[in-house]
Amino acid sequence: MSTTPSDIKATLSFSDGTPAIDLPVYKGSIGPDVVDIRALYGKTGKFTYDPGFMSTASCNSSITYIDGDKGELLYRGYPIEQLAVQCDFLETCYLLLNGELPNAGQKTEFVNLVTRHTMVHEQMQQFFRGFRRDAHPMAVLVGSVGALSAFYHDSLDINDAHHREVSAIRLIAKLPTLVAMAYKYSIGQPFVYPRNDLSYTANFMRMMFAVPAEDYKSNDVMVRALDRIFILHADHEQNASTSTVRLSGSSGANPFACIAAGIACLWGPAHGGANEAALNMLFDIQRQGGAERIGEFITRVKDKNSDVKLMGFGHRVYKNYDPRAKLMRETCHEVLSELGLHDDPLFKLAMALEKIALEDDYFVKRKLYPNVDFYSGIVQRALGIPVSLFTGIFALARTVGWIAQWNEMISDPEQKIGRPRQLFVGSARRDVPPLAARK
Ligand code: SDX
Repeated sequence: MSTTPSDIKATLSFSDGTPAIDLPVYKGSIGPDVVDIRALYGKTGKFTYDPGFMSTASCNSSITYIDGDKGELLYRGYPIEQLAVQCDFLETCYLLLNGELPNAGQKTEFVNLVTRHTMVHEQMQQFFRGFRRDAHPMAVLVGSVGALSAFYHDSLDINDAHHREVSAIRLIAKLPTLVAMAYKYSIGQPFVYPRNDLSYTANFMRMMFAVPAEDYKSNDVMVRALDRIFILHADHEQNASTSTVRLSGSSGANPFACIAAGIACLWGPAHGGANEAALNMLFDIQRQGGAERIGEFITRVKDKNSDVKLMGFGHRVYKNYDPRAKLMRETCHEVLSELGLHDDPLFKLAMALEKIALEDDYFVKRKLYPNVDFYSGIVQRALGIPVSLFTGIFALARTVGWIAQWNEMISDPEQKIGRPRQLFVGSARRDVPPLAARK
């Protein structure tokens, strides 16, 4: 464990006669200290209670750090604002996996390695043909990514560092191919094979939008914008889907199965599904009359009985502006300008909604700011990506973060299978009554 034992200790005392206990406190390199409660149950017979893990550190990690109050996001110490401008996605992948940015030679070797793993087994196509054409892409990705483990028996020994590295490369390389296949299948067009003479993101856009009937030339501004979107989504500490991947991996499940579990978790509208939900929310407001209906919508959001949330707003950790949302808004401007869509009504509606929300006491008091999902849907739609595929794009980008976190956990000598306990509030022991005697 790479923590620093401190001379601070936490003393826990009880009013029910349970003996007090001293618990060690560890310091990280930055961020909050942690109280090590591992001995608590053994010494007191009591558990901690923390639904949603609001105050719980599930692991130690050196990959990504978020300062929610400052609105700061660091990948291996580098600020997201610098990485998004000075690096590309594969450099960021190398950084997340290895802890350092690649030099020129390392970058060339890594890019070549990923490029040569972008094809999937030809029989993978059979899995797609089993789905309805209107299946949600996330259902297709959960199935197809999990199915990859059926093709790669040569890299499933999670205790072999080389197997872990090969699986990481395969997953990073093949997710774009699978996401593009899910899209092509949904619109009845033929699958487009990857090309080794294109960059990672240009390759993805070609697999998405090329058709056999004509040549395809990608737009460099749009490729760069999508590459930046991948960087912004690459990793984010112990969020719900990353915790799912870690928990799945702690049982020894193979990396393809763990990433499929992460994709399933990301699908939820409170998590990665929020980008799709945020754009649909903007469409609804637009259909109901646009900007002049924002006030009415905000009123519904503030009404606890409405169960309506401002999708793309709020965050468990950020209590300030999500730095990714700022970069996403800038990318929106770039792409819409490139496409001559300065007056895109949806973008204008989103900015009006953001302005009103940020001035409303309900959101200010609860420190609710735009998160990564608020603007990402607008820019993805401008890039020609269908709404239903937005979360699939998030999964494509987050695969590197999931696999880096999974690898860190498997490599941690302290790693154990994750098995939380509970506060039991159900029925104490009782005997089964015969059927005739039951009321
Ligand atoms: C992602 O964890 C990560 O890092 C995730 C992520 C990543 O990169 O992996 O950043 C990606 O998932 C971003 C979040 C995307 N989700 C959404 O945009 C959906 C809308 N947001 C909410 O569902 C909510 O903000 C969460 C789920 C994101 C955070 O919820 P919390 O931390 O559990 O906070 P909460 O639900 O307890 O909210 C606190 C208060 C509540 O009101 P009160 O009970 O105090 O009166 O704020 C309210 C909530 O009702 N609130 C909202 C709101 N978000 C919180 N009210 C209206 N609209 C919202 N969006």
